[in-house]
Amino acid sequence: MSNKVLVVDDKQMMRDSVTATLQRAGFIAVAAADGESALKLLARHRPGAVVTDLKMPEMDGLELLQRMRQADDQLPVVLMTAYGTVDAAVSAMKQGAFDFIQKPFEGDQLVMVVRRAVEHHRLLQENAALRSSTRTFQSEPVLVGRSAVMRSLAQQIQQYAHSHGNVLIGGESGTGKEVVSRMIHAHSPRRDSVMLAVNCAALSTSLLESELFGHEKGAFTGADQLRKGRFELADGGTLLLDEISEIEPPLQAKLLRVLQEGQFERVGSSFSMQVDVRVIATTNRDLSRSVAQGQFRQDLYFRLNVLPLTLPPLRHRAGDVALLAEHFLVQVGLREGRDPKRFDEEALVLLQQYPWPGNVRELQNICERASVLTRGAIITAEMIRPWLAAPTWPSSQPSAHTPLPTIAPLPHEMVSPPAATLAAQVKPLEEMERAQILETLRRFSGNRQRTATALGIGVRTLGLKLKKWKELNLVEQTI
Ligand SMILES: Nc1ncnc2c1ncn2[C@@H]1O[C@H](COP(=O)(O)OP(=O)(O)OP(=O)(O)O)[C@@H](O)[C@H]1O
Ligand SMILES: [Mg+2]
Repeated sequence: MSNKVLVVDDKQMMRDSVTATLQRAGFIAVAAADGESALKLLARHRPGAVVTDLKMPEMDGLELLQRMRQADDQLPVVLMTAYGTVDAAVSAMKQGAFDFIQKPFEGDQLVMVVRRAVEHHRLLQENAALRSSTRTFQSEPVLVGRSAVMRSLAQQIQQYAHSHGNVLIGGESGTGKEVVSRMIHAHSPRRDSVMLAVNCAALSTSLLESELFGHEKGAFTGADQLRKGRFELADGGTLLLDEISEIEPPLQAKLLRVLQEGQFERVGSSFSMQVDVRVIATTNRDLSRSVAQGQFRQDLYFRLNVLPLTLPPLRHRAGDVALLAEHFLVQVGLREGRDPKRFDEEALVLLQQYPWPGNVRELQNICERASVLTRGAIITAEMIRPWLAAPTWPSSQPSAHTPLPTIAPLPHEMVSPPAATLAAQVKPLEEMERAQILETLRRFSGNRQRTATALGIGVRTLGLKLKKWKELNLVEQTI
């Protein structure tokens, strides 16, 4: 967040004294003698506030105010007015000035107004980052693992955190690329600034471009509002670009420029912005191969791959499985306010032997699901075996081609007293499943995504089940 203030005044003495006062108070002050050069400095320095004289020969303070707010409608502008020009000051406030200060003023007065303005800007920026569709991160990242490879990884994370270089993290899906990138940010000098994430595979090229770089109002059909991009919102912080290999060549060029020079333009604008963003990119493809095949720019690859890191699949560090499992069971316990459950010996052996195609994420799903479905304190091998063996289970990321995972048959211990016939057994099973789902839904206040995650099923599967039960009047219609 910017501690910079842009000072605009045509009179050198005034400019120098305001600049000096602000610098003594700890701000970084940048000065301009007229409106045009102020607009140029604005793009280059991205100040947190502007202090401008009202009366200037070419572009006056009011016009400058308007032009600046066109570029950034959140930028606080403070006007310095001469004694007796209160009317002009009032109309400036109506046009969106943050405040005005009447000449002659004391240094303290100036510092106070500017402090408020900069703080106001910081809050607006933070809110914008939180409101955006991009994910931000609230909780502390935790990296569990005692295997040799995880230990050396922890060391590497520390080293990388203190460097400014971009990081490229490779590894299969669910191996912990996001956790690692959050750790790097959390231990870096940027830790107090924001970290944002964009999934490059989730958006079309044009949507991704405006997501990353923002757009001006009217830049294209549907752009009815100015929108700041992630590079602008992450200024001073870290931007996580997931699945970087999926970026198309035209955007690769734009990305290269922002990585090289810190410069970019919003879509529909010719105004260059200057930002300071550290990029962490992830990929589950071999990016050097994409380069060799001509799908990914080599210069961009080198820019991203300054600090490379590869996460090993979970099957290569079976020694971490028990520890991770315990960690996830404790997390569920904490979330639900009860003692954590435990796997018995046989169950742990089973977990350690399983190849984990969905890696840590899959283990986490199994742990949460077993926690939810086990009545007692101990999770048995019996309970988890069907989930580990089922051919369509687990699928870490269901695609259009893989059938969505459904709830696997429940092991015998869980079923209510054995019924006489097979036909009779089917119904209690369904009822149990329904009760389980309804209870989980209640626990998460009706949030389907969290319920589905906790149960280890797809949110679509959950939706279909609820729909069916509603049609059969088995559950309340309001669910
Ligand atoms: N070493 C670890 N310790 C604790 N939790 C972990 C660890 N590794 C992964 N996790 C957890 O596993 C889940 C998946 O991890 P993450 O999202 O970082 O994977 P990813 O490599 O980014 O996956 P994808 O490629 O699918 O985006 C997360 O919930 C994360 O908290
Ligand atoms: Mg990820």
